[in-house]
Amino acid sequence: MKIAISGKGGVGKTTFTANFARWLVQKGATVLAVDADPDASLGTILGISDDVLTDLKPIVDMKELIEERMGGSGAFYPLNPNVDDILDDYSVSVGQLRFFRMGNIKGGGTSCYCKENSFLQALVNSLILGEKDTVILDMGAGIEQLTRGTALGVDVLVIITEPSKVSVQTVQVIQQLAKELGIPRVVVIGNKVRNLNDEKFLRDRFSSEQLIGIIPYSDELLEMSINTGSEVLPEGSLGVQLNKIYGKIIEEGDD
Ligand SMILES: Nc1ncnc2c1ncn2[C@@H]1O[C@H](COP(=O)(O)OP(=O)(O)OP(=O)(O)O)[C@@H](O)[C@H]1O
Ligand SMILES: [Mg+2]
Repeated sequence: MKIAISGKGGVGKTTFTANFARWLVQKGATVLAVDADPDASLGTILGISDDVLTDLKPIVDMKELIEERMGGSGAFYPLNPNVDDILDDYSVSVGQLRFFRMGNIKGGGTSCYCKENSFLQALVNSLILGEKDTVILDMGAGIEQLTRGTALGVDVLVIITEPSKVSVQTVQVIQQLAKELGIPRVVVIGNKVRNLNDEKFLRDRFSSEQLIGIIPYSDELLEMSINTGSEVLPEGSLGVQLNKIYGKIIEEGDD
């Protein structure tokens, strides 16, 4: 299963992605976490050291390798290049989780980065051994990251929003784009919700089918950006709320 996380800048995408990825690992899934944000931060939140992150080559920089494995520059290239051997060079293992950096994907024009993404897909396919294995992408704030290429094979797009007008407007832009890109399922999650007014603001703007969960404003989540690499998942009522949201994302999107 392939899950992508999107939304306006600073709404909590990376925090959500990191916790979700850890939860999936706890569930016994093999998780491939991909930082598709050029302003990479998922690795840091997952607790990977700066030194290791600096040395990690991004997938888009594998131009030569892509040319070699995918063949030529034409429109057709093999769909299943042999990629097993390079996984260790281009990813970092954090327990059962494998971390990749996508690198800087420029949108617009006719460039769709199809090759890079087919390559990523091949990497993913070579890793997907069981039904419980999951790819999770932190898309970054720019909608230009959401292209035909990156949307390839995404089963569910999760859009995170704060209770604010600008953040909701971004959700609507992303929803439209996702529709055009043919992403089969798109869900919205409210984050940093402080009170009933905040919650009402979001519920008035999205149907209950769209808005599948609300995450409260929480010091525990805020502190994840300071105490990075925590293995501990939120517990108590916050933990229960988060688990419910994760469950909704994977169960309904699983086919
Ligand atoms: N529910 C929450 N309650 C309080 N703080 C939160 C919550 N979720 C995330 N945060 C905090 O908000 C800040 C931004 O979160 P995060 O980096 O995950 O956002 P982002 O959407 O990935 O940002 P960017 O667009 O810059 O990549 C961080 O300090 C994080 O700890
Ligand atoms: Mg982020």
